[in-house]
Amino acid sequence: MKVIVTKDKYAGGKATFDIFAEALKQGAKVLGLATGSTPLTFYQEVVTSSLDFSDVISINLDEYVGLAPDNPQSYHYFMQKHLFDAKPFKACYLPDGLTQDPATFCQQYDQLMLDHPIDVQLLGIGQNGHIAFNEPGTPFNLGTHEVQLTESTIKANARFFNEISEVPKTAICMGIKNIMAAKKIVLLAFGTEKAHAVKQLVEGTITEAIPATVLQRHHDVTVICDEAAAAELK
Ligand code: PGA
Repeated sequence: MKVIVTKDKYAGGKATFDIFAEALKQGAKVLGLATGSTPLTFYQEVVTSSLDFSDVISINLDEYVGLAPDNPQSYHYFMQKHLFDAKPFKACYLPDGLTQDPATFCQQYDQLMLDHPIDVQLLGIGQNGHIAFNEPGTPFNLGTHEVQLTESTIKANARFFNEISEVPKTAICMGIKNIMAAKKIVLLAFGTEKAHAVKQLVEGTITEAIPATVLQRHHDVTVICDEAAAAELK
């Protein structure tokens, strides 16, 4: 696992941009993308760049169950606003939050990633060590699945909603098996509130209780964190 410590989230966004730009130059055609506040400085770099994605496919980590794509709190909307409006892709896939048949949808999403293996997967990390919505205790061998969000994740994400009761209770999410199948993984973490999770990710024991620790088993992971998120690293 390679760790890059940058001064702040803006430098982190630039460092992330450089890795993705190089991967595209080397022929990457499928990008695994993420939402949340963490990837925003990276997306800003992308949007103001000359990179062309018209021959690239994106596959997102997750989506809330019950939110339509045009709901401003949905991850569809987030991706449209922060990336896709400015940078059209050949195709953009996110889980369908309105599916009537989550089990079948999850199988189809797994198949999508078998048909289009992810070249570079972007990740954030939760304060509790979750990756995407794979919360503590999620088996490492799960594929795409519907998850019950934990209280801590609902609280952390409530800042994007008018009130906490509006935060959906479940989501459809790529599993750790899907994430680990990506050829290359880039995980971003900014701010002191992520420092403990970053320490566990890089230096902790591998355990399903801290999902991100599984990344120690992947052969090509780069962690990009700012000085605040790196503060607990030895
Ligand atoms: P954040 O979320 O980028 O909004 O901090 C990251 C995550 O919980 O995975």
